[in-house]
Amino acid sequence: MPRRARGAAVDFSLMNSMILRWSGCVLLVAFTAGAQPRGFNYDEAKVPKFQLPDPLVMEDGTRVVSAEQWRKERRPEILELFRKHVYGRSPGRPAKLSFFNLEERQGIWGGLANRRQVEVRFDGRRDGPRMTILIYAPSKTKGPAPAFLTLNFRGNHTVHEDPAIRLPHSWVRGRSPGEAVNNRATEKGRGVSKSRWAIEAILKRGYVFATIYYGDIDPDFHDDFKNGVHALYPKPKPDEWGSIATWAWGLSRALDYMETDKWIDAQRVAVMGHSRLGKTSLWAGANDDRFALVISNNSGCGGAALSRRAFGETVKRINTSFPHWFCDNYNKYNDNENACPVDQHQLVALIAPRPAYIASATEDRWADPRGEFLSGKHAEPVYKLLGAGGLPSARQPKPDQPVAGGIGYHLRTGRHDVTDYDWARYLDFADKHLRGR
Ligand code: GCU
Repeated sequence: MPRRARGAAVDFSLMNSMILRWSGCVLLVAFTAGAQPRGFNYDEAKVPKFQLPDPLVMEDGTRVVSAEQWRKERRPEILELFRKHVYGRSPGRPAKLSFFNLEERQGIWGGLANRRQVEVRFDGRRDGPRMTILIYAPSKTKGPAPAFLTLNFRGNHTVHEDPAIRLPHSWVRGRSPGEAVNNRATEKGRGVSKSRWAIEAILKRGYVFATIYYGDIDPDFHDDFKNGVHALYPKPKPDEWGSIATWAWGLSRALDYMETDKWIDAQRVAVMGHSRLGKTSLWAGANDDRFALVISNNSGCGGAALSRRAFGETVKRINTSFPHWFCDNYNKYNDNENACPVDQHQLVALIAPRPAYIASATEDRWADPRGEFLSGKHAEPVYKLLGAGGLPSARQPKPDQPVAGGIGYHLRTGRHDVTDYDWARYLDFADKHLRGR
């Protein structure tokens, strides 16, 4: 018996016939395009009344008044609550973790970039669970450069048409005809997601761009935790890692590698993700304080959006559609958000005093843009206590009017997506915080 009910959106592994594969594609496109399923609340007037847990009040009622108290007592307490109730706890760095340089080329793209592809072998075996990091570094920068580390949805080869990018070895979903055959990536996918990755702009501003296909770490369907890196570990207990925590774990292993790469300044790595991978970047940044800056792009429910608002996607819906994303304990809060000892503003607070950026999109109501803004706003007292500035806007800013303090926010006009506009804001925010510009 699988320990979780299977949801409709996770049964892609069972689809053998073309017809089923096609219906799966349609279903997935609907999800990732930020469709707004019916039967959920999109009316601000119908948001239930709720009280948020105060990030600066300990579970025993003690008020936190100093930075030291936050660091030593309250932060570990909140981190533990998220581990136990929401994402699940993850193992540390495996003893046999190893890195293998697959390929390297300097001075490509008219001298703009250096490229490297590195395999991270989770238990040291070349045929064991492993992920490939694709790295582009600005070739003219002297010394190590700050970096953006990202996960991608469809394979490293989809982020750019560069023919040298390796196809993923892992299970892929594939969304257009021929993009995946028997769940193996094909050449048809090369470059298909490039509009989401402003790689040249990132390099021109002096940053490294690094990306990993998230399915290398844990394929995104519920197989009761047998594939990806889960093959190396026992089945998770109710307070142990779901897939979001697993992808975040992979980001930490990428950072382990980055600490050894001379092109990269590992003290200045920004972790960025979109949608489910925005949830993941927030958890990665909360869980691993080596990440210098954290960016959540349209992360929604279980990411930046406040769960207690139950606006758009709800805890029950996400746990039902994606039973493998969170730890089993999170199911206790289905239709019961107020009982959860944490809400998502505390996830942002865990990142403090490191800078955090939250981005929403006007048409992405499923992700609750206002709830995403409010998480940043309610994390502000912690940033202020730590002398890290806040979110400099009392109200949710109008579309396309970014604000940036220790916490940055914008509401982009348009749909659930990552665009050049988003990247331009992230680059400005990184310049401010990682380069002091
Ligand atoms: C679905 C899901 C969201 C998620 C999104 C994505 O829409 O309900 O929670 O953010 O997929 O990752 O594309």
